[in-house]
Amino acid sequence: MRALTYHGSHNVQVDTVDDPVIQQADDIILRVTATAICGSDLHLYRGKIPQVKHGDVFGHEFMGIVEEVGSAVTAVAKGDRVVVPFVIACGSCFFCDMNLQAACETTNPGRGAILNKKQIPSGAALFGYSHLYGGLPGGQAELVRVPKANVGPFKVPDELGDERVLFLSDILPTGYQAVINAGVKPGSTVAIFGAGPVGLMAAACAHMLGADQIFMVDQHEYRLEYARRTYGVIPINFSEVDDPAEVIIELSAGHRGVDCVIDAVGFEAKGSTTETVLTTLKLEGSSGSALRQCIAAVRRGGTVSVPGVYAGFIHGFLFGDAFDKGITFKMGQTHVHGLLPTLLEHIQAGELHPEIIISHRMKLADAAEGYKLFDKADDECRKVILRP
Ligand SMILES: NC(=O)c1ccc[n+]([C@@H]2O[C@H](COP(=O)([O-])OP(=O)(O)OC[C@H]3O[C@@H](n4cnc5c(N)ncnc54)[C@H](O)[C@@H]3O)[C@@H](O)[C@H]2O)c1
Ligand SMILES: [Zn+2]
Ligand SMILES: [Zn+2]
Repeated sequence: MRALTYHGSHNVQVDTVDDPVIQQADDIILRVTATAICGSDLHLYRGKIPQVKHGDVFGHEFMGIVEEVGSAVTAVAKGDRVVVPFVIACGSCFFCDMNLQAACETTNPGRGAILNKKQIPSGAALFGYSHLYGGLPGGQAELVRVPKANVGPFKVPDELGDERVLFLSDILPTGYQAVINAGVKPGSTVAIFGAGPVGLMAAACAHMLGADQIFMVDQHEYRLEYARRTYGVIPINFSEVDDPAEVIIELSAGHRGVDCVIDAVGFEAKGSTTETVLTTLKLEGSSGSALRQCIAAVRRGGTVSVPGVYAGFIHGFLFGDAFDKGITFKMGQTHVHGLLPTLLEHIQAGELHPEIIISHRMKLADAAEGYKLFDKADDECRKVILRP
């Protein structure tokens, strides 16, 4: 089959690789009908995630038709049309029982990403996301093996086309979890850093839940302008404004800052020169510039919610400021499974239209070009979907 594979930093290619086969009795093989490139894939593409091997197949946002089922699969059958959560969960461990599927302690045989891990088991395996996260081939491919098929694959109604439901695999639940973690409710004031797909999904969900004021910070004018038009955000372009948190505070009631802030940027945040140098020298893992802005912009007693991915050390993390303000932090990979039913209902009710952010529809064969466009934010790229 054909699949998108890694060949070094900024070098991905669609190659012919072996077809996947059933390995465990509760596996299925899925014929992929649509898949997307995620901002998380850009971290891999840029060579920033350790333990990615040449030839690894990427892709964790995908859906398709069940092609083959293992002998213990009862939840889905050949021919079913399903969306697959990017997190692989067993459904019955200590964490799965608490609906914390990203913490599933049984699916990742790899080391996991915690530096000071001690005896703690790794969190869940992810599709196509390095050997830290299980080393499983991803779904930017014609076929993909899906383990734990009685737990993950989620049947979607035929009347909803692929584009309407594809983002249930990752970015829609991620934006939603970010907003729920932030405590957004009717009348809330929110600031979202990052106007990529995750930031846009967070804006859509915050808007749906009745947020009163939504600030959005990015450097790409076209993404900000899109979010202003679509979700009514107040755009702040950090290539024009030195200190976006200052602007947010200036516009917030009583100059107190906003109720909650969402960091939808993560560890590759464009930041200070010092941080760029330290990260290049591998003296630290992450740029702290977006997170510092989040801590600065939130009000006392507010919440900073972090869907953006972080890794290792971070420079200039103002923990004293966070303490003084009495901030709550919530973060982590998305517990996709538990959020899907609600989000599907919102799509069916016409309250969420995640597909409208798609800017590029390409063939899987042209995936390398899709990565290039999305990485460079060329051609006003917001989100690329691929069809095998
Ligand atoms: N928690 C999860 O389960 C989960 C799931 C999906 C994605 N993610 C992560 O969410 C993050 C965003 O993903 P995406 O698909 O939207 O990616 P993206 O790369 O398209 O978007 C990031 C945006 O942040 C902007 N940005 C860069 N530096 C900034 C700064 N200092 N301040 C404000 N904005 C800044 C960029 O211009 C870009 O538009 C990534 O880190 C991704 O890995 C996490
Ligand atoms: Zn993703
Ligand atoms: Zn589990």
